[in-house]
Amino acid sequence: EHGQVGEECSLHYTRVWIPDPEDVWRAAEIVKDYKEGEPILHLKLEDESPLEYRIGPKDNPLPFLRNPDILVGENDLTALSYLHEPAVLHNLKVRFLEPNHIYTYCGIVLVAINPYDQLQIYGEEVINAYSGQNMGDMDPHIFAVAEEAYKQMARDERNQSIIVSGESGAGKTVSAKYAMRFFATVGGSANDTNVEEKVLASSPIMEAIGNAKTTRNDNSSRFGKYIQIGFDRRYHIIGANMRTYLLEKSRVVFQAEDERNYHIFYQLCASASFPEFKDLALTSVEDFIFTSQGENIFIEGVNDAEDFKKTREAFTLLGVKESNQSSIFRIIASILHLGNVEICSERDGESCHISRNDPHLTHFCRLLGVELEQMEHWLCHRKLVTTSETYVKNMSRKQASNARDALAKHIYAHMFDWIVEHVNKSLHTSSKQHSFIGVLDIYGFETFEINSFEQFCINYANEKLQQQFNQHVFKLEQEEYMKEQIPWTLIDFYDNQPCIDLIEAKLGILDLLDEECKVPKGTDQNWCQKLYDRLSSSIHFQKPRMSNISFIIIHFADKVEYQCDGFLEKNRDTVYEEHINILKASKFQLVADLFQDTNKDGSSSTSSSSKSSRINVRSAKPTPKVPNKEHRKTVGHQVSILSEIVKILNLYTPLNEFEERVTVSFIRNIQNRLQERNDVPMLLVDTKHTFPVLFPYTPSALSLETLHIPANLSLHFLTRV
Ligand SMILES: *[C@@H]1O[C@H](CO)[C@@H](O)[C@H](O)[C@H]1NC(C)=O
Ligand SMILES: *[C@@H]1O[C@H](CO)[C@@H](O)[C@H](O)[C@H]1NC(C)=O
Ligand SMILES: *[C@@H]1O[C@H](CO)[C@@H](O)[C@H](O)[C@H]1NC(C)=O
Ligand SMILES: *[C@@H]1O[C@H](CO)[C@@H](O)[C@H](O)[C@H]1NC(C)=O
Ligand SMILES: *[C@@H]1O[C@H](CO)[C@@H](O)[C@H](O)[C@H]1NC(C)=O
Ligand SMILES: *[C@@H]1O[C@H](CO)[C@@H](O)[C@H](O)[C@H]1NC(C)=O
Ligand SMILES: *[C@@H]1O[C@H](CO)[C@@H](O)[C@H](O)[C@H]1NC(C)=O
Ligand SMILES: *[C@@H]1O[C@H](CO)[C@@H](O)[C@H](O)[C@H]1NC(C)=O
Repeated sequence: EHGQVGEECSLHYTRVWIPDPEDVWRAAEIVKDYKEGEPILHLKLEDESPLEYRIGPKDNPLPFLRNPDILVGENDLTALSYLHEPAVLHNLKVRFLEPNHIYTYCGIVLVAINPYDQLQIYGEEVINAYSGQNMGDMDPHIFAVAEEAYKQMARDERNQSIIVSGESGAGKTVSAKYAMRFFATVGGSANDTNVEEKVLASSPIMEAIGNAKTTRNDNSSRFGKYIQIGFDRRYHIIGANMRTYLLEKSRVVFQAEDERNYHIFYQLCASASFPEFKDLALTSVEDFIFTSQGENIFIEGVNDAEDFKKTREAFTLLGVKESNQSSIFRIIASILHLGNVEICSERDGESCHISRNDPHLTHFCRLLGVELEQMEHWLCHRKLVTTSETYVKNMSRKQASNARDALAKHIYAHMFDWIVEHVNKSLHTSSKQHSFIGVLDIYGFETFEINSFEQFCINYANEKLQQQFNQHVFKLEQEEYMKEQIPWTLIDFYDNQPCIDLIEAKLGILDLLDEECKVPKGTDQNWCQKLYDRLSSSIHFQKPRMSNISFIIIHFADKVEYQCDGFLEKNRDTVYEEHINILKASKFQLVADLFQDTNKDGSSSTSSSSKSSRINVRSAKPTPKVPNKEHRKTVGHQVSILSEIVKILNLYTPLNEFEERVTVSFIRNIQNRLQERNDVPMLLVDTKHTFPVLFPYTPSALSLETLHIPANLSLHFLTRV
């Protein structure tokens, strides 16, 4: 049981896996009988060297058993006799080392390993080969999953969703893209509307504005995306809609070493010498702070100018007019200039000013069509409003640079939203959608050397998604067992609700963060202290031994240490109303439009006038701000969008025939395997909780005691171990 060395059996020459600090798992063979309770297991490693492996009552359990060689390399993990972490990793590795075998099934789940290479397995001929086939009959492939979704939609009249998840750099976005390409090919629109081309064209745009180089991945999506592809009664694509969430805004103003800002900045600078971009006053990306902090700013094998051409073509294909495209590029250039605006310290940094001749400020204001004088003033001063009076206060140099950065992020985020909305609109169809297939590409679980608010949000989102996955695969699966009257005891699967509670429950991490943001003198450190005081009893929370300004969350996938530094500021995400008012008054329609809706989300509550009238900032009627409202929006709002997606998935991914088939075929599989083998039949399961994608059909060890196998499955030759 457990796929671990049986305690009573005599196990001569049994092959096992032992943990290894370097290779994670290492193969070994037992060379001497082992009796329960003995402290030493005598092993031989693959290089024939002997090893005395210590067995402890607590920390060193008996090692995992290896699968017989004949099973290794199976294209479905559920075919393995022993299913535990080393078996899974070994099987994936063996396959991966063969050419083009990056995919493996685990029941209905497709496991993909990123080859970091362009494989020639995505051509139209491959799509045609998979189209119409059964998932189990073909080599594992993303197209097989797409075909299964398409077929079920058509045959069972059910809407479908494909969830692509995994760590950062796993290749999720590419997988999602191939799935969409499959639908575009097999569900090509009947008329010459080319909707599918538009759906595909959304990719280069979203990549340009939402992808960036990180240390893990040259092309990392820094936002989550849910695309729903709509089909008509005859299952041709008729349109799509898209929503995004959790854009990593901090990247606009800061990049860690070896990382880059969003691709679009580099693309635009690479094309700065084009005549139509002369007035953007751009030079090399090395000249701009917002694009050069990562230092290593060119990516091997990537031609930013060439990619920019594709981005522009995609914009055009999606119906974004030249005039609006150039507005977008003006906004992007203005952000780069804003980052270079020099804020000069005065009186030991207590106050500051910007030179009126600052060339970057001039470009910023010119490109956005706003008043230089006002911008210059309000970048260094702020208005303080009490019930009786309004003051103008000097900003310290630090405050002013924070405010400038917040403004840059805000402008980028609004532009991002504008583009998403536009893309969404141009994919919209007026004809009636009969059914849909959704593709959710969430950016993956992240743990870096230094983890901050951004990783916290991403990992929180991934917890939510994992929960959805658990619900779908485990809970529903068990219901199915019960329906089939197979009396499994309930599987003890990893329920991550306690971790989610730690984050989002009342007086949880987010709640305390919001509270601290409200306190006038709140600091990251005080907040951190409150976390220690209030949350230490949670099994998912730890205070690091060596630090008092960071905390650890034990996520489903890994333990992550977060630095508290900057959480408050990032959560508040304060943008000064004065800045917004200046932008609203832009003489360029698109720029003014971008900021009109800020009233809706509570970040600005001034009496808003119509778009065209200039707002005189100084005389605008002041309203006391409700500071908490706006940041609640930031985190809370995004998460609620995610919950909504989760709801959609819950609604539209009911258990189906296919899963039933898998279940039955799994049981048959065991049956066949066991009949082929001469050694003592054992039903082997893994209940180790740390592996994120647990095998869906394994009863827990405990349940083996009560496991009752229906007679008609003819598994009577099974004996208990
Ligand atoms: C395709 O053409 C038919 C008839 O020409 C029309 O009724 C239908 O609405 C069109 N579908 C789309 C998606 O444009
Ligand atoms: C990102 O991927 C797309 C294709 O998927 C490619 O065209 C582009 O060059 C890549 N960009 C970077 C910066 O790697
Ligand atoms: C603001 O800064 C200016 C210039 O440094 C200084 O003259 C003025 O006294 C400051 N005002 C306040 C209220 O500190
Ligand atoms: C996208 O378009 C759909 C309609 O096709 C609409 O319901 C949805 O609100 C839009 N979403 C965004 C983010 O614009
Ligand atoms: C699938 O989604 C469409 C909306 O896109 C809806 O009209 C239809 O009823 C859904 N089908 C099922 C079976 O839920
Ligand atoms: C954290 O530790 C530092 C030194 O290690 C100490 O100066 C500081 O007071 C501590 N902060 C809190 C809130 O305990
Ligand atoms: C350009 O953007 C403006 C402002 O959002 C919008 O009203 C207009 O419809 C857009 N025009 C085109 C052709 O995309
Ligand atoms: C086993 O028997 C049950 C009840 O008689 C039946 O519902 C089920 O389909 C059978 N399973 C198989 C695999 O034949």
